[in-house]
Formats: sequence, C-alpha cells, structure tokens
Amino acid sequence: MLNGKRIVLIISGGIAAYKALDLIRRLKERGARVIPVMTRGAQQFITPLAVGSLSAEKVYTELFDREAEQDVGHIRLARDNDLILIAPATADLMAKMAHGIADDLATAVLLATDKPVLVAPAMNPKMWANPATARNVETLTQDGKVFIGPERGEMAESGEAGLGRMSEPLEIVAAAEALFSRETVSDPAAKADLPLYGKHIVITSGPTHEPIDPVRYIANRSSGKQGHAIAAAAARAGAKVTLISGPVTVPDPAGVTVVKVETARQMLEAVQAALPADVAIMAAAVADWRAATDFDQKIKKDGSGKVPALSLTENPDILATIGHHATLRPGLLIGFAAETQNLIANAQSKLARKKADWIVANDVSPEGGVMGGDNNTVRIVSAKGVEDWPQMGKDDVAARLVARIADFLNA
Ligand code: CTP
Repeated sequence: MLNGKRIVLIISGGIAAYKALDLIRRLKERGARVIPVMTRGAQQFITPLAVGSLSAEKVYTELFDREAEQDVGHIRLARDNDLILIAPATADLMAKMAHGIADDLATAVLLATDKPVLVAPAMNPKMWANPATARNVETLTQDGKVFIGPERGEMAESGEAGLGRMSEPLEIVAAAEALFSRETVSDPAAKADLPLYGKHIVITSGPTHEPIDPVRYIANRSSGKQGHAIAAAAARAGAKVTLISGPVTVPDPAGVTVVKVETARQMLEAVQAALPADVAIMAAAVADWRAATDFDQKIKKDGSGKVPALSLTENPDILATIGHHATLRPGLLIGFAAETQNLIANAQSKLARKKADWIVANDVSPEGGVMGGDNNTVRIVSAKGVEDWPQMGKDDVAARLVARIADFLNA
C-alpha cells in the first residue's frame, strides 16, 4: 500500500522525535520514499545527519534556503507528495497549523498543501488536556486532518502519566496505510468493495471516568472492544470515522480519527464537535452520574471513623441529546442498551425516549461475560421490530452492523 508513495515527514521538537528515526525505517521498508522536514525544535533532539542517513534524502530545515528555494521550494514540498505525516506533532505546531500561521518551513508546507495530512501528536498530558489544544484539534479535525494517537502512558521527561505519548511507529504506519486505502479509491468498481465510501460516521466507545477527587473516580467495566471493533469495520468499509473514546486499553483502530476523553461531559462536547455525520453510533457505556461536588484535594480520613457522603448528580444523556437535536441529529442514529433484565422492553423504551432509529440490545448479566469479553449476543430493535442475531465475536457483530448500515444508506 505504501510502495512507491512519496511521504513528506515533518518532525517537530519533542522528545518523541527519536521515534521518527524508527518510523523512517518502517516506512522505507514498505517501499515509501520519505522526504524529511525538520523544525528548529526537532534539531535539538535528533540531528539532520541521522535523519538524512536513514531516509537517504536531503533533509529540509529552512524556509529561506536559497538552494532549496531554487531547487524544490516549500510549494513543491507541499504539492509533490502523496501524504504529509507529522510525527511528532507538538502542541505548538498544531496551534500554528490550526490558525494558518506559516513562520517556518514546516508550517509553510502545511499551509500550502492540499494533500492528506496525518498527525501523530506527542506532548505533556497537561498540554494535551489544555482547552486551547482541544480547540485546535477540533479545528484541525474539521479541516479534514487525520489523527493517530496520542496514547496513554508515562512521559519520558517527567514520569507524569496520562494522554500524550506518541503512537508507536508501526501504529502510525498502519494509519498511513489505512488512509491510502481510502484516498486511492477513485474507480466505481473499487468503491463497490467499500460500501461506506464517502460517509462520515461518529462512534462513541468505552466507559467514562467521573472524578470524585484528584485520585479517585467512578467507572464501569466497559472495555471499548465493541465500539472500537465497529469503528475499525466502518473504516475498512471506506467510511471516514471519528471515534470518541473514554479511557480504554484496546489500541486505536487503524485509519480512524480518535478523540480521547475522560468524562461524560467531555464526550458530549466531542460528539457535538464531530457532527454532522451520516451515522452516529453510541456504543459507550457513559456513566449516568458524576460526583455533585468538585474536590480539588484528595479527600482524607479525619480519624473519627466517619465516612464521607458522596452525593451524585446526573450526567447529560449524549444519545438523547443528539436524538432530540434539531440540526445535529444524523439520518441514522444507533444506540446500545446494556441490560440485565427485560431486554426488549427496556430497549424499546430507550428507542422511543432517546429518539434513536435502532437500538443494539445486549444482555450484560455477569454470567454472559459480555462486559470485557470477546463475544456478544445482540438484538436489533427498531420501529420495524426485533431482529435476533446469534452469539458471535464482537468483530463479527461489528462487521454485520456495518453491512446493515451500508444496506440502509445505499437503499
Ligand atoms: N447513553 C448516552 N449518555 C448517557 C447514558 C447513555 O449517550 N449519559 C447512551 C449509551 O451510549 C447507549 C444508550 O444511551 O447507546 C443506552 O445506554 P444505557 O446505559 O443502557 O442506558 P441508560 O440511559 O443509562 O439507562 P439505564 O441506566 O436506566 O438502563
């Protein structure tokens, strides 16, 4: 898939720049030509010599480079390629890109390009969580940039844990491959194999974490396996997929824009930012309640044996909010109903109450092993009635659901 492709690799300044060296190797192993552009910051972490040796190409660093301007120039760098890959992408570079600032070679190339751009962010978790970065990611997603990562992990510099670690080189390679499988489809015969080509699908997945204090949170047993499998299947079917995921340990599906959130309120905001879409699938196990009080400090025992009272308040219902929304509601809105009793009756009531088109109902009684497990037995409840599916793997449920969505959209 990458064989013969020309990839401009923009390396910006972060400790994850060292992984760009392995990334170059992996891309070249697959037959791609890698033309490196390094920011000044990147050169503080790795040398142009190392990058040039591994890529076997000239390394571009300066916007006003007489030789390069006569020879290639930033406009040609921006145009003569099949993909621009930014790895690592710092918060600063993303901010500039979101605002159209072009004050060095990398940002000038990004402003001048009309090619697909794949972004692999890497930064301190606090910088990733900052509302300014979140706004920039939102803008860039709306501009059509595709994101891979960041991942949850420990930061190399500070030992701080959280979202911000750059995805591994092989995951970035897989995301680039998936992007090409989508971008390269132009003839109608090939599109027939990609029944969701040209459609945008928004999917929620995983649990949410609702903080009690800085160290404790309310959570549930959702693994994200089913929602992530649906995202992967939809991307394989050619859709542009935005996956809004709570904290999970399953890997990001290839070729999908993943927006990572913690709480129900953040998930709702991310869903609203990702819409409009042709289809929305709410597979997340959103916490119904959150702590009513924000505690800035860890709640401590006071020695008296008294137990603190935890009062709860209701979270927004994301599915119902979108279902009742006059403009944001997609043409096909799918919810899940995780039940331990009265499966069909509860699913039907959710269908009506949340104004969904289909409810994927599943029995999550502990003896069924659905939560966290690999199998699922679902029923599709809609205004037309109830359809029983046999027990199957979550990947098969995902593939069958995607096929049914394609039938619906293409009918
Ligand atoms: N859902 C949501 N936002 C919430 C709660 C649920 O978007 N705050 C969505 C889920 O993603 C799922 C559907 O609503 O698609 C049903 O979720 P479920 O937890 O089964 O239903 P609840 O509304 O929480 O009802 P109950 O807890 O009473 O069963």
